[in-house]
Amino acid sequence: MSIRISAEHVVKKYENGKVTVIPDLSLVIKDGEFFTLLGPSGCGKTTFLRILAGFNTLEGGRILFDDTVMNDVPAQKRNIGMVFQNYAIFPHLTVRQNVEFGLKQRKISGEELKKRVDEILKIVKIEEFADRLPDRLSGGQQQRVALARAIVISPSVLLMDEPLSNLDAKLRIEMRTTIRELQKKVGITTVYVTHDQEEALAISDRIAVMKLGELQQIGQPMEIYLRPYNTFVATFIGFSNLFRGTVRMENGRPAVVLNEDCVLHVPDLDESVEDGQEVIVSMRPNEFHYADRGLRVRVISSTFLGQNMSYKVAFENALAVELEDENELTEPMNYLERKLNAGDTACIMPMENKANVFTADGARSLIKGVTIYGGE
Ligand SMILES: Nc1ncnc2c1ncn2[C@@H]1O[C@H](COP(=O)(O)OP(=O)(O)OP(=O)(O)O)[C@@H](O)[C@H]1O
Ligand SMILES: [Mg+2]
Repeated sequence: MSIRISAEHVVKKYENGKVTVIPDLSLVIKDGEFFTLLGPSGCGKTTFLRILAGFNTLEGGRILFDDTVMNDVPAQKRNIGMVFQNYAIFPHLTVRQNVEFGLKQRKISGEELKKRVDEILKIVKIEEFADRLPDRLSGGQQQRVALARAIVISPSVLLMDEPLSNLDAKLRIEMRTTIRELQKKVGITTVYVTHDQEEALAISDRIAVMKLGELQQIGQPMEIYLRPYNTFVATFIGFSNLFRGTVRMENGRPAVVLNEDCVLHVPDLDESVEDGQEVIVSMRPNEFHYADRGLRVRVISSTFLGQNMSYKVAFENALAVELEDENELTEPMNYLERKLNAGDTACIMPMENKANVFTADGARSLIKGVTIYGGE
């Protein structure tokens, strides 16, 4: 039985109330959903996960599992499975004994115990190591044991805090597929913490992007990538080039002017935009094409990345925000029109239908329908 989790105006303070880490957080995690908290180090991901688990006090607001308020329910009564970064499996117990542990605590024994353990060992593909001690397992295998141990007790919620960060790159990708498949098979509401944006995009039904304890955007991976709510999300999830521009009304319709050679007719601009309003436009490195007029770029360096050519560039006739010399363009190798080298110049146009437009402070999208809480 999995459940819906609601956080209502959650406040978390440390150091006897002197330091506020989460000022006011509200969100709903749906029944059976794979929900990821994503954000830079120190933004409060672990803190929030520990609140859900019942390890942290709340200084305001409520946590609900379905319709039950959980604020005063102790951790051991919350029926939660947890997996952490360091596997936290018992070194003196075999794989099977590790997985049995939580079931025995719940007074399950005999045939029922064996059946449930065998089933889980098979699902996470470690049945052949059932009688081994953990020190004779690889990192990935140990993490499978931790996963098996967390879900064998049929928890209502599975909480995972950077479970893959100790594994090498290849194993991380393999394990994230295992976790995703397993989660879908058992259908358990899962809250997953990572600061790896690619992992979040690959594994989640929905992602909550956080910064300094505050929600920046919630949405499906593609929604967050294609329609970021603010410039923090646009630059934290993948790379974006940011430009300063000005809105100009042309026959009653808004255009965004980066310079007189680069006037963008961005579809779906919010009706609130006004003539003369200053905005920020964000473009992914691959959202440009060569043109006769537009943005003049000077190549600082070029790097061959296998599938893509990647160029660090400076824009000569547009105002890039913050990043200055670190703007980036990419071109897929199989469509490569011309290979540019350091010192070369080129003229490019942003793809208007890909552009995201924000208020001048970067705090809010000016594309119709883009909100913090997304479509659902
Ligand atoms: N027990 C504590 N006492 C005081 N401050 C704490 C405590 N635990 C965490 N903090 C502070 O709260 C903030 C959020 O910490 P948290 O561990 O939740 O971040 P995180 O998003 O999980 O970061 P990371 O990606 O590095 O794991 C940080 O500034 C941290 O220093
Ligand atoms: Mg953490």
